[in-house]
Amino acid sequence: MTGLWTGLISNLPQLRAAVEGGGFWMPPQASSFAKHTDSLFMFIVYASTIFFIAIVGVMIYCVIKFRHTPQNETTSDLHGNTRLEIIWSLIPGLIMIGIFAWGLKDWINLAVPHANSLDIRVTARKWAWTFNYPKDGITSKDLVVPVGQPVKLTMNSLDVLHSFYVPDFRIKRDALPNRYTVQWFDTLEVGEHNVACTEYCGTQHSGMAAVVKVVSPEDFAKWKEDQNKSLAGPALGEKIFQNNGCTACHNVDKPDVLVGPSLWKKYGEQEVVWDTKTKSEVTVTVDDNYIAESIWQPSAKLVKAGSYPWGKEISPMPSFEGIVKPEGDMPALIEYIKSLK
Ligand code: CUA
Repeated sequence: MTGLWTGLISNLPQLRAAVEGGGFWMPPQASSFAKHTDSLFMFIVYASTIFFIAIVGVMIYCVIKFRHTPQNETTSDLHGNTRLEIIWSLIPGLIMIGIFAWGLKDWINLAVPHANSLDIRVTARKWAWTFNYPKDGITSKDLVVPVGQPVKLTMNSLDVLHSFYVPDFRIKRDALPNRYTVQWFDTLEVGEHNVACTEYCGTQHSGMAAVVKVVSPEDFAKWKEDQNKSLAGPALGEKIFQNNGCTACHNVDKPDVLVGPSLWKKYGEQEVVWDTKTKSEVTVTVDDNYIAESIWQPSAKLVKAGSYPWGKEISPMPSFEGIVKPEGDMPALIEYIKSLK
């Protein structure tokens, strides 16, 4: 009981915040329009609650007051009440129009990106997000932005429908294959916010997360510098591995199968695979050729020990031909896989 009370008391700021939006019921309000979205949402919740109590209250009152009595009474002859009907149509009608106008105003604000936005490209794939800064030539697995700067996201998907959702910013929009979609946000203070995928996209849908890192302009400049430092060997390979979302399906530090087989201590080992060309089970050595083939043509040889149902002819892994370049990228990835010991 004491625990309950201390719990309640320590939650008081959250309870207050619940009334004002954010806090108890809502994630933090980390963009300039989060508070507007919350206000409209809370208005609809409170209006619905008031009307629910009023309507159900009158209904219960009438059920009790006008209940059927044992005497042989006849019901009075009712033909409606025009004035009452106009009132109970007009008032909710006006509230609806108000909610529509309010929502439209916020929707226009959300739909039109700020003129001097930082342009960032978002690529979705099963099951990772990749962020590209076209002006700086940077590709990253995290979305790093300078605080206060409006950001415009131009998104697409390499495979199926995904949806880019940042609860703290109150933004959500689908990322589609063969089409660009756009959304924008701004930030109020330095901090980190979670990105989730909100369109069911397969096995690792719930793991399709990323982080928005809101940093000071100085830290952002430093981050850009670090990103542009030329990496080589296994370090470059690791960055390519992370940027392409490979971590979503392949373990690199333990033997367990995630979606695809683990790559830990695999280089130079023997692997039993189903060769889809010869339709036979063969034993291969995990060498440069096998790794390159598995990245560019994932369905050529299917690992028996993978989680993928044995006997299927197509790997769920997309081909990285044209994404992982034969010069630079592939040798670095091979070096990285060699280094996983
Ligand atoms: Cu991507 Cu769910």
